[in-house]
Amino acid sequence: MTDLHGEVELFTLIRNNQGKRVDKTIIRNLYDKWAPTYDKDSSDLQLGGPSKSGALVRDLYQEKDISILDCGAGTGLVGTQLQRYGFTNIVAQDMSPKILEAAKQKGIYRRVVCAEVGKEEMPFEDNEFDVLVCNGCIIPFHISPNCFPQWIRIVKPGGHIVVVLRRCYVELVEEEKCYYSPSLAESFEANIRNLENCKKWEVISKEVFPGYLVEKEQANEGIALVCKVL
Ligand SMILES: C[S@@+](CC[C@H](N)C(=O)[O-])C[C@H]1O[C@@H](n2cnc3c(N)ncnc32)[C@H](O)[C@@H]1O
Repeated sequence: MTDLHGEVELFTLIRNNQGKRVDKTIIRNLYDKWAPTYDKDSSDLQLGGPSKSGALVRDLYQEKDISILDCGAGTGLVGTQLQRYGFTNIVAQDMSPKILEAAKQKGIYRRVVCAEVGKEEMPFEDNEFDVLVCNGCIIPFHISPNCFPQWIRIVKPGGHIVVVLRRCYVELVEEEKCYYSPSLAESFEANIRNLENCKKWEVISKEVFPGYLVEKEQANEGIALVCKVL
């Protein structure tokens, strides 16, 4: 283990493993180790995704007791925003026990569930949630867009899926091209398109927004996707 900040370790891992496979245990260990300083590092990086995710959910729903799954919740930065807007019925899921413990300590979530999003079926009922929000987890070696059909299963028809991610992982951005993953880009676009074509969801909006994070004094863009489950 190194003394690098979590984000340096993460960004180095992504750059050095382009086109390779990285075991989920390595990712889990990275976040377990990062848990104590994650909030401070996120603040230093000026992460804009959590507030963007929270605002998108706020703009979709007036009712405050809707059931929300924060998928890949981390330490609960999105939950904090949702709580700020008055939402009260939020479940957190993440595969890192230590980062999830930090989320639990914030007292925002009704329940925390330690489980990986991957090949196994997610441990939730059909149509359990009104909204699934996933901020900053569509990253190489993290949560794959191939899980979108699973997300649709656990969100009620008429409910919404809100996904916010760093743009450069799925679109070629010249200054950040060391992070671009052609396979992630392909599966992101293909899953969005196929699920629209099969009338499983409708894309309500897909926008590029500024201020996703600041790395080496350079502000980077995010993508915010909002889909309605059909
Ligand atoms: C960059 S953090 C984002 C956390 C949080 N959503 C936020 O906005 O601060 C990515 C999170 O995804 C989790 N994660 C990565 N791959 C996962 C998977 N396959 N299943 C569940 N959680 C995963 C990590 O443990 C980590 O907490």
